[in-house]
Amino acid sequence: MKHNQATLIVVKPDGLKKSLTGNILTRLSETKLEIVAAKVLRVSKELAEEHYSHLKDEPFFGELIKYIQGEMHNRKKTMAMVYWGPDAINKVRQLAGATNPEEAESTTIRGSFGRITTKGLYENVIHASANEEESEREIKLWFSPDDIIVDLYPAQVRTDKECKRRVWA
Ligand code: PPS
Repeated sequence: MKHNQATLIVVKPDGLKKSLTGNILTRLSETKLEIVAAKVLRVSKELAEEHYSHLKDEPFFGELIKYIQGEMHNRKKTMAMVYWGPDAINKVRQLAGATNPEEAESTTIRGSFGRITTKGLYENVIHASANEEESEREIKLWFSPDDIIVDLYPAQVRTDKECKRRVWA
């Protein structure tokens, strides 16, 4: 029996613009994994740069940041989810297909819906964590402990009276 893992999946702005969310969720349900967190969000420059910090010296870094922020698709929106269960990282990576959409098998999500731009940037529709170290780093970056319905990693309670937040009027 493979051990339980959590993995971050991000439907990128091209996926949202092409109305692929339902399609992607249906494909992901084949894994029989559990969704333990989900939100729709605009990716800030800070979040984008931190998420892809290991790629900061790549020639495509600037374009990659603009892409995840939605600037290439006039759709400043992503959908981030955490899936959880046995062998989750590998199961989701199999369904997602190779990072390079031209190399991804045609039945996979990236093989079906991805493309490479004329500038050489991969528009591959979804991001999926590569390994457990990365999934922990990424999930902690995209989600707070209270956004996730299972206790994935140790957390602490902080009382912050200075913290301003909006509540329903
Ligand atoms: S992987 O698949 O996560 O192990 O890939 P990694 O090397 O960590 O991250 C590469 C991310 O950069 C995106 N990208 C490209 N990679 C290589 N070459 C080109 N030209 C390129 N353009 C974009 C690639 O899609 C990976 O991002 P994610 O979000 O994981 O798809």
